[in-house]
Formats: sequence, structure tokens, C-alpha cells
Amino acid sequence: MITETEEDISRLPPPDAQAQAHSDILCSHIISRIDDKGSIEFADFMDRALYTPDLGYYAAGLRKFGKDGDFVTAPELASEKSGVFASCLAQQIRQIKDQLGSYEVLEMGAGSGALALGLMSALSQLDALPNHYFILETSAELKRRQQRTIARSLPQFADRVSWLGSLPGSGFRGVVVANEVLDAMPVQRFRVGDKGLELQYVAMEHGQFKAQWQAMDSSTAKVLERRLKGFDMPVGYESEINLRAEAWVRSMASFLKAGLILAIDYGFPRHEFYHPQRSEGTLMCHYRHRAHGDPLVLVGLQDITAHIDFTAMAEAADDSGLSVMGYTNQASFLIATGLEEIVAASDARDVQAHLRLTQQVKTLTSPSEMGELFKIIALGRDIEGPLRGFALNDMRGRL
Ligand SMILES: C[S@@+](CC[C@H](N)C(=O)[O-])C[C@H]1O[C@@H](n2cnc3c(N)ncnc32)[C@H](O)[C@@H]1O
Repeated sequence: MITETEEDISRLPPPDAQAQAHSDILCSHIISRIDDKGSIEFADFMDRALYTPDLGYYAAGLRKFGKDGDFVTAPELASEKSGVFASCLAQQIRQIKDQLGSYEVLEMGAGSGALALGLMSALSQLDALPNHYFILETSAELKRRQQRTIARSLPQFADRVSWLGSLPGSGFRGVVVANEVLDAMPVQRFRVGDKGLELQYVAMEHGQFKAQWQAMDSSTAKVLERRLKGFDMPVGYESEINLRAEAWVRSMASFLKAGLILAIDYGFPRHEFYHPQRSEGTLMCHYRHRAHGDPLVLVGLQDITAHIDFTAMAEAADDSGLSVMGYTNQASFLIATGLEEIVAASDARDVQAHLRLTQQVKTLTSPSEMGELFKIIALGRDIEGPLRGFALNDMRGRL
């Protein structure tokens, strides 16, 4: 996702009375949980702030996506049904279809439904429609929004799209797509303390949420110590670990019989993620196109995200029998899957449409916007490489 500016929290626009009242109700739910236990782990706080049914940021009816919301994601940039991002992804998916024949798509966390719309349109143009397009979405509100989007804009394919309440057992043959979903999974925040690793908790102080550092239980400490061996982290160094994203990769491994998982998100290989200079971690909040670092304010009104340690994703895949088939940045992936052909085919005499397209391409590929920071990892089973999207710049060696 991209936001326009990084902002000091004192300069964020204040929420209106209705939004504030909504946030107050969510806060009182979280406070009652804290009152029961004295404090809750940060990951629990993030989970409740984002996903409490009807109240959490993703569960409630806030605008979130697009110009009038808090952030813009790659599929949201599309100015017509099939945007550049979806068209390029569809080329990669077609390569898998060519190997599997009959196949299905599962999209995780489909947001507004923009990617589902774009992918179904682009796959139809390639004569590569899946038998079924499943969406697994945790937010009931977003699921309703996706259903409206598909019914309104793609009625001809509506009977091929269905929503899952949970991952069905095993036996899936096809492609799983997760765009900016892993970064929205609750993370644990840790710090190097004087006496060892500490975990962040959230408590109450003078009626406000307050971060607290507490000693880490021995099993979490063991996982982290093993992972951080060899990294130079001075006392005070803070960062995150996203164990839920790793568990997600493992659950996908038992679900996928043959095919490919394409996970797209902002992040780095581990040696960059835990770089000595990244001493305050990667956690970021997005509110009305402003980014800032305080997850304890605007509770339920702002997005909370953390970058992805792609080495951890690759390790979880390896451990669970999936092959890491490619890893690259978004710009390289899009160019390898036909971005330049899309631009070349655009009619420059239609000045408005051509300008919108070139603006979209710039945002998706520019190193200062989404091109470099966003990565795409491909995890496969029983698929033959090389994969088209990674032909230009496969960076697996850096993981
Ligand atoms: C940042 S939004 C991205 C939406 C969309 N993929 C896009 O690119 O515009 C994150 C989405 O993931 C969903 N989500 C978060 N955790 C999830 C999970 N464990 N399973 C399925 N969806 C999840 C959220 O409800 C939301 O729809």
C-alpha cells in the first residue's frame, strides 16, 4: 500500500464525532480484556484493533481503500476493470493453468474486490478462466462489499466466484494469491533488553493505552534467539516477528496439492529486515493517506501493518514441502509478465486514458513508490519452472 506522507501523530487530522464514538466502543472492549489480565500481548492488541467483529479496522464499515480512504493498494490503482497489476498477474497464472489444465484460484483477503474483478476479466481475455474463483476473507463487511462489486461489475462470472469461511482440507489444484495480506497479520514486537529479549505488551496508564516491555517466555525466546543468531542488535533494538504469516504458509502447504502460491507484500530478506540500522522495526500505521508509527492511537480507525521477513516465508515453505520457485521485486515481476506490452498497446491519442495508464505504471514500478519495496514470492508444488514472472530478476539467492 502507498500513503502520501509520513506524519507526526500530533498533526494527524482528528476523527469526526461518529468515528471517535466507534473507536471508543472498540477501546472499551480492549480495555475490559486488559482489565482482566493487567496487560495483553501486542499481537493480541493488533488482532483486536483490526479484526474485532463489527468494530475492528477491517471488520467495520470504514472506507479504508482508495483515494477517500486510508491507503491505496496495487489492484486499487486500476482505472478500468482489468488494471495493469491484475493483467500481469494473470499472465503468470496462465502459465500454471497451461500445466494443470483444469484449475482454481483462491484469493486471500480480497479487500474491496478490485483484484478479483481485474483477475477474472484478464483471465477471461486470455481464455484461462479458472473453474472457480474462491475468496477467503476474515472481514464480514469486506466480504459483503466484494459480493456487491462482483455482482455489479462481473455478473457474467458471478456463479464462478464463491466465498469460503475457512480453508477447506487438502486437494487444491491451482493458484493462491495473497496481495498485502501477510502484512496485515498481527505481529509480536520484541526488544533487546538489558537482561535478554523482551516482548511488548499493552497496558492502561492514566486512561490511555501504554506499551510495556516484559520478559519473554522461554519458547518464544528460543525461536527468536535461533533466528537472530549472528545479527548485531544492541540493547534497545526493536523489531517484529510475524509467526502467523509463517503458520499461514504451513497451512497453505497442507492445502495445496499442485500449483502455486503468489504472495505479494512489502518486505525484505532477513538480513535486511533485521539490519542494524532498522533499529525501530517496520511497524507502520496508515490513516487518511498519512503514515506514522503509533498503533495505540486511532484504534479501529487506522490500519496497522508490518513488513514481511521473506526469508521466514521461504523457510516455512521449505519446512512444509513447498518449493520456493521465485522471489523478486514488483517492478521486475510486472515487466517480466508483460507490462511494456500493455503500455505499447495503449492508444496515446486517448490522452486521458494513456495518462492514467502511465501514472499507474509509474506508481507500480518506480523504486520510490511500489516497485522496489514490494516483493513477490512464489511457492509451488508439482509445477515446472522457470516461472515467467521471475525470468528477469530472480532474487532467491538473497533470501
Ligand atoms: C491491506 S488489505 C489488502 C486487500 C487486497 N488484497 C488488496 O490488495 O487491495 C488486507 C486484507 O486481508 C484480509 N485479511 C487479513 N487477515 C486475513 C486472513 N488471515 N485470512 C483472510 N483474509 C485476511 C483483510 O480483511 C483485508 O481484506
